[in-house]
Amino acid sequence: MTVSLTTSAIRAMKGKEKISMLTAYDFTSAMLFDRAGVDMLLVGDSLGMVMHGRPDTLSVSLAEMILHTRAVLAGVERAMVVTDLPFMTYERSVDSALKNAAKLVQQSGVRAVKLEGPYYEQVKALTGAGIPVVGHIGLTPQRAAEFGGFKVQGKTTEAANSLIEQALRLQDAGCFALVIECVPAALGEIITARLEIPSIGIGAGPGCDGQVLVMHDMLGLFDRFVPKFVKRFAELGQEFQKAAQEYSRQVKAGVFPGPEQVFNMSQEELEKLKQ
Ligand code: KIV
Repeated sequence: MTVSLTTSAIRAMKGKEKISMLTAYDFTSAMLFDRAGVDMLLVGDSLGMVMHGRPDTLSVSLAEMILHTRAVLAGVERAMVVTDLPFMTYERSVDSALKNAAKLVQQSGVRAVKLEGPYYEQVKALTGAGIPVVGHIGLTPQRAAEFGGFKVQGKTTEAANSLIEQALRLQDAGCFALVIECVPAALGEIITARLEIPSIGIGAGPGCDGQVLVMHDMLGLFDRFVPKFVKRFAELGQEFQKAAQEYSRQVKAGVFPGPEQVFNMSQEELEKLKQ
């Protein structure tokens, strides 16, 4: 029987084994990533962009996160699944964070949530209520406008120190892991060394305890823009398109369906039908 990874198992990987994490938004990809041995799956609010074609993540709703999370959980046996709390579901108050995280957990079945930015009181309240939290610092996409776009964070000593402080305070507040996005590699390494919990980098260099990528970027499915930190491990977008072109060609040429794809009836029944 496959054993599901718990928050303690993830924490215990720090310093021993790198943690692999990918985003997932549907049953089939979650099942394939789980079979491939990916440790953590993030139902990221990036789904607004890569699944729904929106320009950013800001309009993603809690209901959408619940729907996609249910699909992902249906495909997973081993990986630890974490779901993003979308924009404006936790920032206003501790109460709103508790109410919305409870709804997400109860209606989707997910056990752990992620939230962006230095919301220490919210993290304390959620972990106190038994909901494990992953923090997220650096370039937090829900606040990209405030940073003047998708830009590398923590490049000055002052900005880097502020991120180190945020990381330590999020750890103290109870986070069991921390996503660090788009910071210089040296800073990713410094933060990782200061933390007891695992860091999971995205554009934060190889010194982090784990790495996360958006599945569409990693698989070469999304080309509206490709950040520098993305490595494409496949070019499935091209394969997808090639397969669809060939399908369309065969349908139009009358080649598909062929004899292997049709159902037959007995000659006797056919004769009766023709009478
Ligand atoms: O929403 C998301 O996919 C994320 C990752 C970029 C870490 O938060």
